[in-house]
Amino acid sequence: MTNYHLTHRDTLSDVAEALYRKWRPKTFDEVVGQEHVTTTLKNQVASGRIGHAYLFVGSRGCGKTTSARIFAKEVNIAGLEPDSPRAKQIAEAIAEGRALDVIEIDAASHTGVDDIREIRERVGFQPSELRYKVYIIDEAHMLSTAAFNALLKTLEEPPPHVIFILATTDPQKIPATVLSRCQRFNFRRVPIDKIVARLRQLCEAEGIEADDHALRLIARHAAGSLRDAVSLLDQLASSSTMRISAADVREALGATDAATVRALVDGLIARDTGAGFDAIQNALDQGADARQIARQMVERLRALLQVKVSRAPQQAPALTDSIDGWSEAERIELAAQAEKLSMAQLKHAVHAFSEAINEMRSATDAQLPLEMAYLDCVVEPEGMPAAVPPPTRVAQAGRAASQAPAGPGPAPATTQPAPAPAPPGGELTYEALKAQWQQFIREVNAVNKPAAALLRSCDLYAVAGGVVHLHAHHDIPLIRLQEPKNKTSVVATLNRMFNGQYDIRISLQQRQVDLDAEEDPVLKAAKRMGGMVRR
Ligand SMILES: Nc1ncnc2c1ncn2[C@@H]1O[C@H](COP(=O)(O)OP(=O)(O)O)[C@@H](O)[C@H]1O
Ligand SMILES: [Mg+2]
Repeated sequence: MTNYHLTHRDTLSDVAEALYRKWRPKTFDEVVGQEHVTTTLKNQVASGRIGHAYLFVGSRGCGKTTSARIFAKEVNIAGLEPDSPRAKQIAEAIAEGRALDVIEIDAASHTGVDDIREIRERVGFQPSELRYKVYIIDEAHMLSTAAFNALLKTLEEPPPHVIFILATTDPQKIPATVLSRCQRFNFRRVPIDKIVARLRQLCEAEGIEADDHALRLIARHAAGSLRDAVSLLDQLASSSTMRISAADVREALGATDAATVRALVDGLIARDTGAGFDAIQNALDQGADARQIARQMVERLRALLQVKVSRAPQQAPALTDSIDGWSEAERIELAAQAEKLSMAQLKHAVHAFSEAINEMRSATDAQLPLEMAYLDCVVEPEGMPAAVPPPTRVAQAGRAASQAPAGPGPAPATTQPAPAPAPPGGELTYEALKAQWQQFIREVNAVNKPAAALLRSCDLYAVAGGVVHLHAHHDIPLIRLQEPKNKTSVVATLNRMFNGQYDIRISLQQRQVDLDAEEDPVLKAAKRMGGMVRR
């Protein structure tokens, strides 16, 4: 029950957007849960020690853009009486996006060097009406390399009247040269209690009636994003004429998450890496939240565990409490799935996804822990001593190869192992690494868990000229392992364990056909040097 009237052109999301815009804080004191940032910024304005480049880092919807605009306003009204007409006029102009000297650039749609060049050209001019010209570059990580370089020139010698505020969800994609010029502020996910309090305040002001439990569910689902919380509340308020209940919230949230969780469990049963990754990606593309999926996954796995335990009465009775809250159809489905998973597999999976939820608290990218938890469950066979190669791996590799779209030809015969003289690049041989492979993964695990999970999903393919070649069976592990933080852990562990200077290269399994056609120069060289090719 909002006080909006839907016209024929409005969609619910337009209305939702309107409400969160309307509730954009106008002062630092209204910004919820970011006191560590707002206090420092307030002090800087008060003391006149204002920097020229700021970086606001944090997940979406936690107040970065809002705080950037407030800062732009504060620096420009500093020294004025806050209630004076001039101060009010400036504040209004900035809040409404009319101030000529506060320039917002969405880097997601202006990634090019031309946009930044234009800034560079204009940066030299005095502000037209305010004291400071403030450039707010949203989604700054989307800028192209050329754009970053152009920006860097400006950041190196910023004119005294210019302030840059870069906002990003993904600081790792920002070059170190730019980072080092910025004062960095980390925005936190807004805690549940603060989200609930804000929603309650908003409900009262807007005349929306909602149960406490419903607000808590909304807050929990929003996973730290006040924008998402307010949007969801508004959608619910627009679509129901009565009091918003917990059941309304559940219903509004349910569909995508449930389908994804079902697909993930099926993927676990089939030990199908690709199916799970695709399910996650599809869900996220549709706007689902990785945290929510992980939580629902834990809930479902626990239910499966309970079904399993109740069928095996000799097991711990403590777990055999009811699985209330599941419909009859769901129970039948649960029973069918539980049948196909072992107790150890389920326990391992509950553990992996719970851990992912923990990791998501500190990670800016929630997708990665979710994917890694899934990977961990698919590739690590239950209860296996880690040193014994899992039997499922052979089947898995075979299946992946036969499914590879680019590889319709018959699987080529395995190259015979031949004695491998030490390649010139170092002492490491395929045999030596293979023998220590599990130990190697354990050591990587000690420094970087996601990297270890990724390694487990790959096959060691060849070692030649100091380069370890791995095969991935899906593009996600391929991409993730090549990310600097993962690759660095793997290479560093390799260098330490085998005492040399090695490198890794990862390719998709599909390319194997080309490799076997002996068109791959690396492989040809590897064979010439006596390297062994294995799969
Ligand atoms: N910390 C916060 N305190 C109060 N409201 C917030 C906060 N974070 C987000 N919001 C709400 O969400 C909307 C979007 O916030 P925004 O600052 O654009 O997020 P970000 O730039 O971090 O993605 C705001 O208009 C406001 O309604
Ligand atoms: Mg923003």
